[in-house]
Amino acid sequence: MIVATTVDEVRRTVRAWKREGLTVGLVPTMGYLHEGHASLVDAAVAACDRVVASDFVNPTQFGPGEDLESYPRDFDHDCALLEEHGCSMVFHPSVDEMYPDGGGKTDTYVEILNDMPKQLCGKTRPIHFRGVCTVVSKLFNIVTPDKAFFGQKDAQQLAVIRKMVRDMSYGIEIVGCPIVREEDGLAKSSRNTYLSDEEREAALVLSKAVFLGQKLVEDGETDATKIVAAMTDLIQAEPLARIDYVEAVDGLTMAPVTTVEPPVLFAMAVYIGTTRLIDNFLVEA
Ligand code: PAJ
Repeated sequence: MIVATTVDEVRRTVRAWKREGLTVGLVPTMGYLHEGHASLVDAAVAACDRVVASDFVNPTQFGPGEDLESYPRDFDHDCALLEEHGCSMVFHPSVDEMYPDGGGKTDTYVEILNDMPKQLCGKTRPIHFRGVCTVVSKLFNIVTPDKAFFGQKDAQQLAVIRKMVRDMSYGIEIVGCPIVREEDGLAKSSRNTYLSDEEREAALVLSKAVFLGQKLVEDGETDATKIVAAMTDLIQAEPLARIDYVEAVDGLTMAPVTTVEPPVLFAMAVYIGTTRLIDNFLVEA
């Protein structure tokens, strides 16, 4: 596996692949990789001749007081996992390589101006999706992939990226991949490492709420408000949990809905202690 730290090196390598007629898949990540990330690499390897994973903790998507400095990092472990899963190249740039003005700042952003990035996570993280769109847009320009792979775990992010790709005519196929969970249900996340043993146990309320919501939909409940209320009650019964939001939204626009008319996304963000975790399920047509 090639380890590239500069934009130039990525461009040169991808150009050579394309001259050979090979297709390229991109898996953007912030590192501290787990089986959720690995599942994206697997999907990319299955669909493309060459796979590039980016491993970059992107400063522009973190707000003041968020966990940019403490975000977990283990590049050696990441390389081992990526190589094992058949990744061809990892792009691991410095902050200055990605943001040449220095200090992890940029004067140029890619930003969706409608309400989509203001819903759900956007309420507590107002600049988050602007930072995500900007870095993913830069990665698209650097790697020029045929396909890019994103997890349904970050459902709003996936929807925002799909919208950005359409609006900006990227001509890149966006592939959404299912949520990978621990055996007991907890969605895999780099941030799970922040949890104490007691908090790890309490964090199960998120997946329990997802499974409860899914069961209610399966049983024919069409009132999204009732489903959200049942999920909320379940989470509120856990003393270590503090709800940021539990909501039902349109699966494409992220606008709030009250009935289950697919596609509907049931999404939540919950603080377990000081750790903010997200989970969701999508009701598809
Ligand atoms: P990160 O949180 O590292 O996630 C990278 C990708 O892995 C995202 O597409 C995310 O949805 C996916 N992923 C994480 N946990 C998953 C799980 N349990 N099951 C399936 N997929 C999972 O998301 C980001 O990084 C950043 O915002 C990024 C897009 C890289 C831009 O900086």
